[in-house]
Amino acid sequence: MSAPGVDARARFREALVDLDAIRDNVATLVRQVAPASAMAVVKADAYGHGAVPVARAALAGGARWLGVADLAEAVALRDAGIDAPMLAWLHDPDASFETAVERDVDLGVSSIDQLAAIAEAAASVGRRARAHLKIDTGLSRNGVAPEAWKDAVATAARLQAEGLVEVRGVFSHLANTSAKEDAAQLAAFEVALAAASAAGLDPEVRHIASTAGALRLPESRYDLVRLGIGCYGIPPFGDGTTAADLGLRPAMTLRGRVAAVRRIDAGTGASYGHAWRAERTTTLALVPLGYADGVPRQASGRAEVWLAGARRPVVGRIAMDQFLVDVGDDEVAVGDEVVLFGDPATGAPSADDWGDAADTIGYEIVTRIGPRVPRRYVGGS
Ligand SMILES: Cc1ncc(COP(=O)(O)O)c(C=O)c1O
Repeated sequence: MSAPGVDARARFREALVDLDAIRDNVATLVRQVAPASAMAVVKADAYGHGAVPVARAALAGGARWLGVADLAEAVALRDAGIDAPMLAWLHDPDASFETAVERDVDLGVSSIDQLAAIAEAAASVGRRARAHLKIDTGLSRNGVAPEAWKDAVATAARLQAEGLVEVRGVFSHLANTSAKEDAAQLAAFEVALAAASAAGLDPEVRHIASTAGALRLPESRYDLVRLGIGCYGIPPFGDGTTAADLGLRPAMTLRGRVAAVRRIDAGTGASYGHAWRAERTTTLALVPLGYADGVPRQASGRAEVWLAGARRPVVGRIAMDQFLVDVGDDEVAVGDEVVLFGDPATGAPSADDWGDAADTIGYEIVTRIGPRVPRRYVGGS
């Protein structure tokens, strides 16, 4: 029995990705952040959804830019024929940037050493490199430290005058900690922008907001917002706000087919360690997904799935390849569709529900789905 609205032909195990949902989510977010432009963040294989099809759907929805962490992710998108403006921001300390320059990939720059390496690559390729200078405004990850910023912008301005580097952007990243701390980061960003301007830089795009800032902190939108989780229809806030509240719909449905059904007596233990025992005679359904597929073992005995027309509890320990669901006295058959998470509007749990069950966040739930689970795409043109 299928959750309403979900394609009925489930495979043994699969992650169904609705590309129309991606496109529509991006279009919804693009309308909200205008006149700022949108970058769809498709790092980590588009949060597990599949970078190339997601990138295409996001561009169809109105994203003007694509963002990734690693240069290799950007090159894979270029190899697939995607020529949208693209930014990569997390680099191997020994990286050489010739490929980025040749393949027209903008580079996030977090240090003067990186600026030098980028300029060297530009000189060797014979083409200007495009850089977005990153200032650390309080997340304490990468980005130029505030005390080194003046030197960084002076160096960048010199390299720009020499024709080696074009400073196309200045950016930072919010910690989304509290209104007060966000405001402090924005103030630090303003100071950094003023210093860049004083050094003679006039970047095309200033950007600091990810999905959370883009939605709830309009003053953080500047020229460009970097939208990750919102594109996938998962709320960024962790405060009970649903996708529907934001006008979004989850793009990924993780599902499979019941592999076995067993009627057991009261007192019977199930799965490793018999961490769960039946309190009464009941029916168990075996779901062929486990922690090898990214289903968190931590959610054992806590999560729910959609099966046989209702939400049902996961019982006993989640194993590497499989776990059990208690369906009571209801009817369930081998081959029935079971949905771990999808669009809660269909009755299924959300990725965030699984995040809560595993003491993590929806981001991690979708991103960790393993390679054994085929991605299947619906929608898109
Ligand atoms: C630098 C940067 N920008 C934007 C994003 C997108 O964030 P979100 O998925 O919360 O929209 C990320 C993701 O972690 C990021 O690392």
